[in-house]
Amino acid sequence: MSTKLFIPGPVDVRVDVLEKMSTAQIGHRTKEASELQSSISKKLQRLFNTKEEILLSTSSGSGLMEGAVRSCTSSRAAIFSVGAFGKKWYDIAVNNGIGADLYEVPMGEAMDADFIDGVLSTGRYDFVGITHNETSTGVVNPIEEISQVLKSYPSMVFAVDMVSSAGGHKLNIDELNIDIAITSSQKCLGLPPGISMCTFSEKAIERAKTVKNRGYYFDLLKLYEFIKKKNYQYPSTPSIPHMFALDYQLEYILEVEGLDNRFKRHEDMAEIVRQWARDKHGLFAHESHLSNTVTAVKNIRNINIGELNERLKERGMAISNGYGDLKEKTFRIAHMADTQIEDIKELLENIDHLTKI
Ligand SMILES: Cc1ncc(COP(=O)(O)O)c(C=O)c1O
Repeated sequence: MSTKLFIPGPVDVRVDVLEKMSTAQIGHRTKEASELQSSISKKLQRLFNTKEEILLSTSSGSGLMEGAVRSCTSSRAAIFSVGAFGKKWYDIAVNNGIGADLYEVPMGEAMDADFIDGVLSTGRYDFVGITHNETSTGVVNPIEEISQVLKSYPSMVFAVDMVSSAGGHKLNIDELNIDIAITSSQKCLGLPPGISMCTFSEKAIERAKTVKNRGYYFDLLKLYEFIKKKNYQYPSTPSIPHMFALDYQLEYILEVEGLDNRFKRHEDMAEIVRQWARDKHGLFAHESHLSNTVTAVKNIRNINIGELNERLKERGMAISNGYGDLKEKTFRIAHMADTQIEDIKELLENIDHLTKI
């Protein structure tokens, strides 16, 4: 029996999307490859609400995070973290030899825009890295308020990890003045893992031109210049199977389901899980910053989450334990990608039945 995944990535992938992965291969230096990659970029511009260029990477999202911080920090990076994935920005910067400072809040809380203002007003930084939707805690950062603050720092390159929100959460990248918005295939977009994508603004391009050591595979300026020169082809051989599936799934998201319907379905699923958690367990994240794509539930009744998951597996379902130190203290239910309201209701009924709560 296959297992329905309610984990925050990789997510279930529809069979028709999986089938697109086995489309007959094409050469990566052909007109067809150019057409496919340019079609994907145009569709992603609609998803992200941006006029800026899109870059694709045959890597998971961490690769583009590495590319962003390394290609676009020229003095120092300010990293604002609300959990494990926020810290990832910092680890990536430090491991690339880039000067960075980490600013954190207690787990379950969101980042405060005024605090960011205070940090940036020191004038020490020219790059900001932050997570939009923190998958480890179910917190969504107030990105609109934060982007208002960033407007006072026009030379700052503003990079946002949208790995677990893009495709499930409405995003206006240009209105928010985000220079690099990054996401991965295996979350809200509903594809297998292995490809990631980001927006890349004029400001980010100009900054990258001033950075000497941008690395090799994740040099975002090199990717940008290559696709411009070679009609959307990439310097290295990309995962063409992912490209076929991504183009197809983006067409489905934009034209069959529709973006607004997709965002509404994510909100509706989130509200069902939240209400259930409020009634029976508790929410880990603060009420004012609840994610639309993943809910971290407080394990106040000391359920053995590992055991619960074993029993759920026998019924063809899987949820996630808490992340890192939050293991067994919380458990996480993802409501993202092509999961439907009925799937969520079925999962919650099964948890209630097994826990007798
Ligand atoms: C918020 C967030 N950022 C970054 C990552 C890392 O992305 P990837 O696994 O695609 O490298 C994840 C993965 O779960 C994530 O949830």
